[in-house]
Amino acid sequence: MKINNAAFVISNTDVSKCPKDPIPEYAFIGRSNVGKSSLINLLVNNKKLAKTSGKPGKTQLINHFIINDSWFLVDLPGYGYASVSKGKRKVFQGFIQDYFIQRKNLINAFVLVDSRHTPQKIDLEFMQWLGEHGIPFSIIFTKIDKLPSSKLNNTILKYKKKLAETWDPLPPSFLTSATAKHGAETLLNYIDAINKQVVGKIEM
Ligand code: GTP
Ligand code: MG
Repeated sequence: MKINNAAFVISNTDVSKCPKDPIPEYAFIGRSNVGKSSLINLLVNNKKLAKTSGKPGKTQLINHFIINDSWFLVDLPGYGYASVSKGKRKVFQGFIQDYFIQRKNLINAFVLVDSRHTPQKIDLEFMQWLGEHGIPFSIIFTKIDKLPSSKLNNTILKYKKKLAETWDPLPPSFLTSATAKHGAETLLNYIDAINKQVVGKIEM
């Protein structure tokens, strides 16, 4: 899929104030600093669309971007960032949970995990929670430029083995690097194929 245009629409913490257009939506979620905003920028080939930072906790709101006037990409705050005060962290979780449960046009959540790490409890629990709420998700292994390919293959294999304890079939998964500009085309084609399946079928 070619990106002809990508534009910011709105940011908020209230799912009822999110755009009402009955078009497919894809959300990016995962630990703070895993590379959600950077990956969105890679997909749309615009480094400035979503705000990124070397420090965790940059994205704090539900951010809607409209792509090719026909579908939404959503950049969400990360979870698991210990420096956010307890009270604030709870609010994050509350409105993010509401978003996932209530957003009718959410077609797929992309759960981003750092390709360097072994499976983390917080990510596995979040996937479990998505499953329990019937929210389809795919996994994106990010920052693959940081690992030599032999090590990368090994970590991914181990990760999938862990997932296989819970999931059959395994959720679709993708490898990306915003720095090395890897994985955008595959992801966009995946989204495009789903968009074609759901066109005209979304109710809000
Ligand atoms: P929050 O909004 O805080 O939850 O973080 P985020 O998940 O949106 O991460 P963000 O895209 O802001 O990136 C965090 C840091 O990781 C930044 O310093 C990025 O430059 C870096 N980063 C993101 N993707 C990659 C990647 O593919 N490779 C490398 N080497 N660094 C990356
Ligand atoms: Mg972010």
